[in-house]
Amino acid sequence: MVDKKYWWFFKGYDVRNNKVWSRSFKDCNLDELAKSNLTPLYLTNGKRIEDKARLIREAFIKNYTGAVDINYAVKANYCPQILDLIAILDLGADAVSPNEAILAEQRGVSRHKIMFTGTSVSKEDLEKLVKFGNYKIDIDSNSQLKKLGEHRDEWNIQGLHLSIRLNPNVGAGHNPDVITAGSKNEDGVPIKFGIEQNKIVDTFLVAREYGFYPDTLHIHIGSGWLGNDVDSFRIALQNTLDVMKELRKHDFDNLNLDVGRGPGIRYRESQKSFPFDTYAKVISEELNRSNVQINKLIVEPGRSLVGDSTILLTKVNTVEEKNGILHAYTDASMGTLIRPKLYHAYHEIINVSNPNGPLTVYAIDGNVCETGDTFTQDQPREIPEIREGDVLGILDTGAYGDVMSSPYCLRGRANIMMVHNGKLIQCAKGLEDLNQILHRFYVDTRLER
Ligand SMILES: Cc1ncc(COP(=O)(O)O)c(C=O)c1O
Repeated sequence: MVDKKYWWFFKGYDVRNNKVWSRSFKDCNLDELAKSNLTPLYLTNGKRIEDKARLIREAFIKNYTGAVDINYAVKANYCPQILDLIAILDLGADAVSPNEAILAEQRGVSRHKIMFTGTSVSKEDLEKLVKFGNYKIDIDSNSQLKKLGEHRDEWNIQGLHLSIRLNPNVGAGHNPDVITAGSKNEDGVPIKFGIEQNKIVDTFLVAREYGFYPDTLHIHIGSGWLGNDVDSFRIALQNTLDVMKELRKHDFDNLNLDVGRGPGIRYRESQKSFPFDTYAKVISEELNRSNVQINKLIVEPGRSLVGDSTILLTKVNTVEEKNGILHAYTDASMGTLIRPKLYHAYHEIINVSNPNGPLTVYAIDGNVCETGDTFTQDQPREIPEIREGDVLGILDTGAYGDVMSSPYCLRGRANIMMVHNGKLIQCAKGLEDLNQILHRFYVDTRLER
């Protein structure tokens, strides 16, 4: 019997006997689980990732008639066991560094389903990509193409199939810093990604002159946008299809179209879940209207696949009023989860030890020495009554959570576990200890006194 209904239940949780339970793990509730393991603890529910993959697939089956490849954006979360799941689900991988491509392949993603889309790509990066797995490369600058061309014979890559990234002029995202198209973001930061519309035909022609086969046009407008941004995506897509018509004049026909990703997740009660059906429909409509034939469509979900699969469990060690505000201090920090600090991002925070407690206003803070080290950046908020020793759950931390973490102030990076097929799997070696943090230093090298 569920005690009470909360808006976040749809992510796979229930509240019973004044405790929060994961529906995929019946053995113990999240309070017990956190108290019997090292915290802070990122706990991923594999079933939620499987469900999201199915939802995205079905939206395309229903609303789009052509072939679709789903490439998971590894940057969202490279946890090896998440990559195992991606391979089991038979998805491809979108890698933004050579190491992401290599790890995805090591965990079972087929080599031919991995594409690299980098920024600031060096000759060494390209050589690694070509030599390790001959992964498909998405060209982000003309300089990158030139480097490939100049080393074509040395690296034995004659006839290489390539993708080329277009800046489709219109971007969207949950924060200016994750908008990746247009000339500048709202804060005036120049956009560094892709090749501009007026240059891209030449890029295709130069690729052909080198004897390469550019067979894919790629765009990515930004990250974490929701239903109300679908119109911006539509305009970006129209611009892209115009470019495809231009390319057709030069016999670049029947290309693959990679629309990147960016669909967000419902972080707040007031938001709506991303409308995947509408998204797939918009792509269908625009392709039909433009009369451009494509070979296959590629999408690269990161956040929307793994974002709401994970809860960050953190213990409260201190509850104290300061300057008229109740602060609850936790064993996590901005080093564990930087999104609230970096993007002023909102994450729902629940009290898994006392979910039915009376609502009280708190600032939820971390354990490193920064004023900005708080998970309630925007403002203190109502949370069921918190007692010292309680465990809080920070929701929706599966994307850009642990992968952006740091051991700042020598606070170790978090413990990581995953529930898969009803079993609890240890993914990280507990909470990082001092030796693990110092692993990359020569600690035996001491300066002479
Ligand atoms: C090329 C590319 N594809 C996919 C993604 C994933 O975006 P998201 O996690 O918002 O789905 C990103 C993120 O910025 C990206 O740069």
